[in-house]
Amino acid sequence: MARGFTGCAVDNGGAATTTESSAGRIQASTAELPEPFTLPFRVPAVLKPVRQDDTTDYYEITQRVADAEIIPGATTEIWGYNGTFPGPTIVSERGRQVVVRHRNELPVPTVVHLHGGVTAPEHDGFPTDLVVPSGWDATRDEGKGAHEGHTPGSGSPAEVTEVERDYVYPLDQPAATLWYHDHRMDFTGPQVWRGLAGFHIHHDAEEEALGLPTGDRDVPLMIADRTFAGDGSMPYPALDPALRDQPGVTDEFHSGVLGDCILVNGVPWPVMEVAAVRYRFRILNASNARRYRLRLDDGPSFVQVGSDAGLLDAPATHDELDVAQAERFDVVIDFSDHSVGDEITMVNEHGDNSTEMVMRFVVTREEEDDSRVPDRLVDLERLSTDDVKVEREFVFERTSEDGTMMWTVNGEPWSPDSVAARTVHATVERWRFRAKNVEHPIHVHLSPFQIIERDGNEPGPFDRGWKDTVNLGNGGRADVLVRFDGFRGKYVFHCHNLEHEDMMMMGNFEVV
Ligand code: C2O
Ligand code: CU
Repeated sequence: MARGFTGCAVDNGGAATTTESSAGRIQASTAELPEPFTLPFRVPAVLKPVRQDDTTDYYEITQRVADAEIIPGATTEIWGYNGTFPGPTIVSERGRQVVVRHRNELPVPTVVHLHGGVTAPEHDGFPTDLVVPSGWDATRDEGKGAHEGHTPGSGSPAEVTEVERDYVYPLDQPAATLWYHDHRMDFTGPQVWRGLAGFHIHHDAEEEALGLPTGDRDVPLMIADRTFAGDGSMPYPALDPALRDQPGVTDEFHSGVLGDCILVNGVPWPVMEVAAVRYRFRILNASNARRYRLRLDDGPSFVQVGSDAGLLDAPATHDELDVAQAERFDVVIDFSDHSVGDEITMVNEHGDNSTEMVMRFVVTREEEDDSRVPDRLVDLERLSTDDVKVEREFVFERTSEDGTMMWTVNGEPWSPDSVAARTVHATVERWRFRAKNVEHPIHVHLSPFQIIERDGNEPGPFDRGWKDTVNLGNGGRADVLVRFDGFRGKYVFHCHNLEHEDMMMMGNFEVV
């Protein structure tokens, strides 16, 4: 077990509070954390293709253990894509396919999911589609699930167990902020916590014609909370710290693992030097269990131009931004009313003390700016309730069976073999999601959706555009329209609180 953390700071696992507003428990750091807003902001490196042909860009990523310096002067062992956390950013352009060869040099199996990608089932990262390290005994996985009848390796769309595999991404989809992360059955929470997450930024010609800020003024922000022990390590309360056999976390963390150190692109509370111009920020909440309400202290508003699955039809201005796990908000921040020397702090209104702070911008210079935010962005197709063929309801709730606590969908723990919904390709369905016990952010693979109702009312301010993740409060409900397009086969939908996901809050749907 990782040493040096105390798990008693806050527990709102059963009853969400208005201060933290995240299900879970904080592991308090015992490391001396850096003073906020002292470390320089950085952007994850953009990965270069190893090869290109007429249709495709080829990339290679090795997943490996590496040492990082996250807390100045301390060494943190991470699991990283190419040994970095965040992983390198892949940048793609509609019309070109991307193939990523992932090689697993970690001590345990992994699965890669391109979150938001419209991807064939055998490349989507089904939780049992393992890429195994060399020497891994695949038979050891059998019967090791947290739930009886949970048989890893069976019933997945393609049982590929190899050290290396090519993930094929057609990316015939609109410009959007996508991300890739680990999705191994039962162990996604700890493996993402250790660092397996990166950006995939997808462009298209329509987006490029808009005149939004580009280049080094188009900036990804991966926000994630972590905990640091005195030895620099990032402890995680796994029942099996080696992540080999027994899944799950110690009891008190069943609602979620929260850290007290907020990282942006892997840096604790960084400070970014900006010019007094417009910037585009692609905000991603890559935290396991933490939700944020972001605000710019003494600063401008967020002008939202995109959501999870692409650009909006028109910009939307927000003074605060609620960002649940896995959600992306593509925003423009205009610093032009600020003078050189001004400091603008991004705060988290859902946080307490150290988690109240996210990052800081310091205006250091004036520069030319020919970017703009047009009043109309892109034409969005509106799905219509008239086209709905099937309505389904999914209740996300905590249940316990023989004293074992589980997170379930419609009372069922996830099994790779079951199918909760058979959907007909290219038809529209209405899915109603309900959250019980605590809040749950619900993510559907393959097909983005449109939120048409929230708690029986109009959609909320953060529900615009095409979404792939919807943030539900405790007791909350959202109705979405979704058209299962692009591919046929078996995919998952699940809660993106990664501890809930690992403890079975997931279902399968099959597009036929
Ligand atoms: Cu972001 Cu099923 O994942
Ligand atoms: Cu959940």
